Formats: sequence, C-alpha cells, structure tokens
Amino acid sequence: MKNSITMIDNRTGKSYEFDILEATRGPNVVNISSFFAQTGMFTFDNGYTSTASCKSDITFIDGEKGELRYRGIEIEKLALNHSYLDVCYLLLNSRLPTEQESLEFDLELRHRSFLHEGLRHLFQAFPSDAHPMATLSSATSALSTFYFSHLEICKENEYQEMARRIIAKIPTIAAFAYRHSIGAPFIQPDINRSFTENFLYMLRAYPGGKMHRGVHGEEKIKEIEIKALDTIFTLHADHEQNASTTTVRGVASTGAHPYVAISSGISALWGRAHGGANESVVAQLEMIGSVENVDTYIERAKDPNDPFRLMGFGHRVYKNYDPRAKILKTLQDQLKDELNIDSNLLKIAHKIETIALSDEYFISRKLYPNIDFYSGIILTALKIPTSMFTPVFVIGRTVGWITQWIEFKKDKDAKITRPRQLYLGD
Ligand code: ACO
Repeated sequence: MKNSITMIDNRTGKSYEFDILEATRGPNVVNISSFFAQTGMFTFDNGYTSTASCKSDITFIDGEKGELRYRGIEIEKLALNHSYLDVCYLLLNSRLPTEQESLEFDLELRHRSFLHEGLRHLFQAFPSDAHPMATLSSATSALSTFYFSHLEICKENEYQEMARRIIAKIPTIAAFAYRHSIGAPFIQPDINRSFTENFLYMLRAYPGGKMHRGVHGEEKIKEIEIKALDTIFTLHADHEQNASTTTVRGVASTGAHPYVAISSGISALWGRAHGGANESVVAQLEMIGSVENVDTYIERAKDPNDPFRLMGFGHRVYKNYDPRAKILKTLQDQLKDELNIDSNLLKIAHKIETIALSDEYFISRKLYPNIDFYSGIILTALKIPTSMFTPVFVIGRTVGWITQWIEFKKDKDAKITRPRQLYLGD
C-alpha cells in the first residue's frame, strides 16, 4: 500500500498524488507542497484549521484527549514535580537537567536578569498610562539594539546564550513596565532570589532594605505564592503552533533578529482571543458580579446575535478539558484558604463551568474552560495587578517562543513564510 493520498479533479477527471508524512504522535500530514506545481491551484484553509506549518519535536497536543507534552513528558508530571526553570532547560535541551545543571542554569539566569542601563532610560519615554504589554513588546524589541550580534548566530552555545539572556530579562522588563505604569521606582533584580520569587519581588517591593514591606503589606513573599506562580509559568511554557508562536516563526523566517521575533510574539499574544483572555476573564467575572446573574450571561453567550463570548472558554485545538485548566483548578482548590482566593469570583466561575459543561450549546461545540479561565483567579489571589496577567503569560511563554525560533533556524528545509490568496478583487 502506498503512503500517499490521491485527489481527483471532478471537472477533468485528472488525479494527483500527494505523500503522507507520518507523525510520531497525532495525525499524519499530507505533503501538499507540490500542489500548485501539479494542479495550478492553491489550497484554502482559513485560520489554518487543517494546516501543519512546520515539523517540530518540541510540544505535542492531543486536543481530543486533552493531552499536552513538552519533549514527550506529560504536563501533569512536569507541573507537579519540576520547577519552571527545569522545564525551560528541558525545552531548550530536549532533556531535564541534572541537579548540578539545574543549579548552574538557575545561577546563570539570576546573573543575566539585569538590564542595560540604557534600556532602563527607554521606559521614561513611554506614557505612564501605557498598557504594560505595549511597553513590554517595545522594550523587548529595543533589546535587539543591545545584542545586535544575535542576528548572525548559528552555533549551539550562541543559541543557548541568546535564549538564556531573553528568558532572564523578560521578567525584569515586565516588572519595569508595571512599575512605570504606576509611577513607582524600578526595583532591580535581587541575585539572592529565585527566578519566580524575583519577579514578585520586583513587582511588589519598595526600594531599599531586604525586609521590605510589599505594596499590599506583606512582610515577605510566601513560599506558596512562589510555587503557584512557578506552576503557572510551567503551564504557559509552550503550546506548539499557536498564533503568537506562528508569528515568531514567521518573523524568524525573514531572518530578523530573535528578540524582534519575540517582541512580535508578545504583540500577537496581547489580543483577547489569545493571551489577553486572562485579563478579560476576571473583568468578565467581576462584571457578572454574582452567581444569580450567571444564567443571563450564559444565555447571552449562546445568542448568535449577541457578540458576547464567555472568556476563558473554547480553544482551537482542545475539544476536551484543557489539561492546563484542570491543573490550575486543582491548584486553586488547594490554595483557596492559604491564598485568600476571592470566594465570590470562585463561586461565579464554578457556576459558569457547571452550567456550560452540561449545556447543549457548549457540549455540541466542545467548548471547555481553557487555561485562562482559572489563571486569572489565581493571579488575583497572588495580588498581581490585572494589567500584568498577560505579561505573566509572556514570561512563561518566552522559553517556548525562543525554542521554536531556534528549531526554525536549525531546520535546513525552512523557508520564508509566504502564503498565497484567493483573489476576489477587480
Ligand atoms: N463563548 C460562546 N461561544 C463560543 C465561545 C465562547 N467563549 N468560543 C467559541 N464559541 C462558539 C462560536 O460562536 C461558534 O459558534 P457557531 O458554530 O454557532 O458559530 C463556535 O463556538 C466555534 O467558535 P470559533 O470562534 O469558530 O472557534 P475558534 O477555534 O476559531 O476560536 C477561540 C477559538 C478564539 C479561543 C474562541 O473559543 C474564543 O473566542 N474564546 C474566548 C476567548 C478565549 O478564552 N481565548 C483564550 C484561548 S486560550 C489561549 O490562547 C491561551
């Protein structure tokens, strides 16, 4: 039996044959790269619902089963047993680090977390009411002016250095973007704090003194807060060829600087249909206000004439429970008391979920809660300002983007991204 597919043009009866490429997991792929040459026609796939844009061995999703793996390892195992930085190491090196490698990686990232003084001045040029995502994207792009040589890299150690640099600096840029937005002085990274603790520290601390009081009155950052945020970073670390990652690969395909590609990914993530949903979920739960109002909003979400959508519901790939949402729901139940999670928001969220999971509209469309449905509630409990929810997503996802950028660069068959169109004009 030939490993190919035959297509027949019903107008002419002519047949065309295309090879099937075998996947190690998930659906096989029909190689249609010769389609135009053979038929003189293009294929049309609005929103790429059936199109594989690259070969990859980084992340695997089975949307029907609700399964997610990084480098072959289930997300549940990684989220429960490994730190976010170990997950970064895994994505970048295709294996988990040894204890020694883990320590060295952590130490290196602490040292690389500082920003060039010149970059720090750039923040003053932005209006104070700028959204931190806008500032974060712009400042990340500006990072390319300080590390211009990354444009030409092609050796493994250069890729690794470039990746570690951006992973380490993004939390600092994000924290500075927030501090700028509230007119507060910047807090430099503290070399004695871990990656995740450092980010909370840079957001909350007052300048001076180790025993700072956080802006919300805490004496110090709690271990449980660090663990919760670290898990959130892990769950966001990569998600195969989503909109922002596809943007990063698209920019990479032109030969542009890696940090400019990451900046483009940040911009793509900002939208409400993508990473911006975590900010919208909490705003929507607050707007719903109480469990008594949930039914009204469910009806609105189902009304085809009403543009209202339940934020944090639905996913292009998951047609089952998003495994990341499942982990966060469990985490949230575990932390409810210790983190003082807003019980009203939680009650509204649980009611929405219960109704939606038993309602024909949501069942028939396979609409389940996605990661953003629960991350916003936990981030609120961590006293992370709403405007910083999507930057938190960026911090987690940077490793995924840069790993995908490196994979693209190493792919000998990679081409510039250049789709065609169905022209309907004059
Ligand atoms: N609420 C109500 N109805 C919905 C929702 C929702 N959240 N999501 C999809 N639908 C309905 C659509 O109206 C459509 O119904 P129809 O067939 O009667 O027209 C059907 O489900 C399919 O929806 P599409 O928009 O075609 O699905 P698509 O795969 O293109 O979109 C998306 C996926 C963008 C995530 C969508 O579900 C959505 O807008 N969700 C809300 C925003 C959100 O939570 N985004 C975060 C995604 S996860 C992430 O990026 C990290």
